[in-house]
Amino acid sequence: MRKIEVFDTTLRDGEQSAGVNLHIHEKLEIAHQLARYGVDVIEAGFPASSRGDFESVQLIARQVRTCSIAGLARSTERDIDAVRDALREAASPRIHVFIATSPIHMKHKLNLTPDQTLETAVAAVKYAKRFCADVEWSAEDATRSDWDFLVRIITRVIDAGATVVNLPDTVGYTTPEEYGNLFRYIRERVPNIDRVKLSAHCHDDLGMAVINTLSAIQAGVSQVEVTVNGIGERAGNTSLEEVAVALAIRKDYFQAETGLNLEQTIRTSRLVSKLTGMVVPPNKAVVGANAFAHESGIHQDGVLKNPLTYEIIRPEMIGLTSNVMAIGKHSGRHALREKCKELGLQLEEQEFNRLFRAFKELTGKKKEVTDDDILALALESTNEAMASRYELEFLNVFYGQDSISTTTLGIRRPDGTVVREAATGNGSVEAIYNTIERILGEPVQLIDYRIQSTTGGQDALAEVYVKVQYHGVTSSGRGIDNDVLSASAKAFLDAINRAALKDRVEDKVAASAAPTV
Ligand code: KIV
Ligand code: ZN
Repeated sequence: MRKIEVFDTTLRDGEQSAGVNLHIHEKLEIAHQLARYGVDVIEAGFPASSRGDFESVQLIARQVRTCSIAGLARSTERDIDAVRDALREAASPRIHVFIATSPIHMKHKLNLTPDQTLETAVAAVKYAKRFCADVEWSAEDATRSDWDFLVRIITRVIDAGATVVNLPDTVGYTTPEEYGNLFRYIRERVPNIDRVKLSAHCHDDLGMAVINTLSAIQAGVSQVEVTVNGIGERAGNTSLEEVAVALAIRKDYFQAETGLNLEQTIRTSRLVSKLTGMVVPPNKAVVGANAFAHESGIHQDGVLKNPLTYEIIRPEMIGLTSNVMAIGKHSGRHALREKCKELGLQLEEQEFNRLFRAFKELTGKKKEVTDDDILALALESTNEAMASRYELEFLNVFYGQDSISTTTLGIRRPDGTVVREAATGNGSVEAIYNTIERILGEPVQLIDYRIQSTTGGQDALAEVYVKVQYHGVTSSGRGIDNDVLSASAKAFLDAINRAALKDRVEDKVAASAAPTV
């Protein structure tokens, strides 16, 4: 069996999804979970892009020690210095430098000739190599590049010290056969290709990211770049879980395997979905809510007689088990602590105390407390720990079918003062949001509003996800509560808090800046 290394870019390419803005502690939580899942490399961010990205890469490098941590850099000394500094304490650092190689990118974005691009790439790899033994080089838009130019530039960056060569399908343009053939071409013609790992990185614009990645594996790549739930810019990246489970289920066909602990699949998917607010479609392969639901009578009959009739993936294989807690109303702090450990939650004492209070409150209202409930409450309590927040103090809503909804609510401001206001709206949620806007004295544009329940049953927790535009920043937020309206208010405030925290707007370096190495 060939070993395929998993390079997870959820925290870099995935975080580039519209409206996703993770807090540094949420990124760390995801990184710990990815390490538990067993990925080989975590691309933790793009340190030169913002102070927030730099600090989260630094924190992850310091705390996640069981896999390599990579940081992305354009081909400039400034970007490479930022990655070097952010990864200073990493157990196993990797600098990932890239430059575009397609005619359209070189001419219109970089304003460089192919020869200048080549020299810039070589200089960047040599520069990165001064600080780090492990240097990955990516040819952005490789699938729209001239193959012979790729042969030339790859040969040179390998001589300059690259250890991994990645050929991204940046715009999701290629097809399985074409992508496989590109790797075969490169393997046959680049004389020093045996000195590096080859890597595939696909985007899903035409819905072919997973199959293109699998085709690259068949053509000999030994690293795949993926994101949890396939999140990422535009239509997203290759879905980690789909590739991993395809390789596991069709080992006979692909003759390749990852080192992942597949039982962590569902937990990883849910954590990322909850923290990013990107809901997993019910029909998504492997991790969708309906992936194991059998509707037709013939199928149900078959599965009852023998699950293998219609189920090619055993639910336990990906960690899908019935998750009702063995603890409840009478459980104490010790039992909850054990449960947190089992769920892989790493909480500060203050966060744990908040969780315990929320757990006790929940057991008074809900018959069965599930692992998902605990996860939702834990995320809520880490949410509450974020600094300088507007917090919901109280909420009253008057609703009648034939009357205008009216809300009075109070918000605790970052300085500790509580402001009370009242407003009306066409519905209860609109009335709540109008009241919050009135308190802030500024417009907040609601772009998206979604609601779901954590588990089944009438007493399930409500999870609300919103996307807003505030201070020119698009930001998402989530709120969890027994009550739908309180969850709606919390989600709105969370999005506002995150927009205020988001420093990347002023810090972001224009993506089109010309390379200087
Ligand atoms: O899609 C892409 O080309 C990338 C590179 C920066 C690796 O994400
Ligand atoms: Zn990408």
